[in-house]
Amino acid sequence: MTRPGRRARLVPWLAVLVLIVVAAVRPAAADGLAADETARILRHGPWPEPWRRDGGNRLSGDAAAAELGRALFFDPRLSAGGGVACATCHRPERAWADGLARSVGIARMDRNAPSLLDARGRRWFGWDGAADSLWAASLRPILEPGEMGGSVAGVAALLRADPHLSELHRRLPAPTGPTDDLALAVDAAKALAAFQETLTSGRTPFDRFRDGLAAGDAAAVARYPADALRGLRTFVGRGNCSLCHAGPAFSHGEFEDVGVGYFLERGRVDPGRAGGVERLRASPFTRLGRWNDGGDATATRHLDPQHRDFGLFRVPSLRNVAATAPYMHDGRLATLADVVRHYSEVDEERLHADGSRLVRPLRLGPTEQADLVAFLRTLSPE
Ligand code: HEC
Ligand code: HEC
Repeated sequence: MTRPGRRARLVPWLAVLVLIVVAAVRPAAADGLAADETARILRHGPWPEPWRRDGGNRLSGDAAAAELGRALFFDPRLSAGGGVACATCHRPERAWADGLARSVGIARMDRNAPSLLDARGRRWFGWDGAADSLWAASLRPILEPGEMGGSVAGVAALLRADPHLSELHRRLPAPTGPTDDLALAVDAAKALAAFQETLTSGRTPFDRFRDGLAAGDAAAVARYPADALRGLRTFVGRGNCSLCHAGPAFSHGEFEDVGVGYFLERGRVDPGRAGGVERLRASPFTRLGRWNDGGDATATRHLDPQHRDFGLFRVPSLRNVAATAPYMHDGRLATLADVVRHYSEVDEERLHADGSRLVRPLRLGPTEQADLVAFLRTLSPE
């Protein structure tokens, strides 16, 4: 056996040395982040996400429809008694939510009003996913007795009788079928959806940090506050938060259990996703019904009611979360600090036995909790 020359023996050692130097220098360049942490952070962007019109709504992306939708959104005449508009509970100055724990229309509702910002990107609508399109989620509140208490005939009559609304409606691409009352009410809902598609949220300090990280822009990375960065590392790391609050919208769009109770007053419970699947399957206004203008119905077709759906709620997006207090499906937590404390101390007894095992009490110290809140605050535009 011939012994390798001195130079040949040095080569592997040099390679190891280079690796050590690279490993030591690289994190300093990206604010102490390990490569896998960086990868997990990058998955929360870029923002905004590309959007495609809803193939199930012939008015999706139509500017004239959005104009009609805007007029309807602020019009209380859609409700029984004429006192409640969409904007009563989805207020523009409150990030299109209402700031109440549980919304009040004709009666008090069981749930917290979600922000409508970026709603166009969702797959299921409502905390329980009882609607599979933005337009169906816009028809539901009009007809719900305790919410707006309106009717199909009432919406149709309004569209026919009001000169401004009927003129706006005439400008829309014509429907393929007859224009009876029901078709007019569905058109109103589809126009409301076209309007809500225009409600999108802007870029945030987090996005500037994330894009700086992607581009190797050290100055942009350095501008991100140190406490928010520590909170972000908990979010993508030990906190497991990004398993559910995943992707650019900070939600994977499906339903989970994080140990928030589902009891309403007087022994009533909110069945969450289990009730949502039931309502969706009973509704004529889904992608499986005749009002679908050609959108993909696969996900709806494959829905299958399961016992373990009980008490699951949709993972909310965390964009603009600082502006949409109070929190959770029934608004039971008043502040972001309360939410973080919930995850820190979550009662494992409350998690469903067969639910996901992604949530465990994190036992965060006061500074760690404050850091996580500081991070969540960087998800709103300045
Ligand atoms: C009385 C208050 C109230 C009124 C009025 C109201 N909403 Fe809502 N909205 C809510 C609440 C509460 C929810 C959550 C419902 C649920 O989870 O079942 C909701 C959910 C939604 C959603 C689903 C959002 C998401 O992220 O899943 C859309 C879309 C929506 N509303 C649009 C409208 C439109 C359009 C109108 C008017 C036609 C309207 N809402 C009227 C309170 C209201
Ligand atoms: C198992 C999936 C899952 C994990 C892990 C998770 N969440 Fe959530 N998150 C949810 C669900 C589901 C809700 C809504 C629960 C409800 O209303 O009952 C929620 C609600 C929230 C809300 C309230 C938003 C609103 O608009 O009401 C915030 C803030 C939040 N989570 C932050 C976090 C943070 C921070 C972590 C990590 C410490 C985390 N979440 C981990 C699924 C998850």
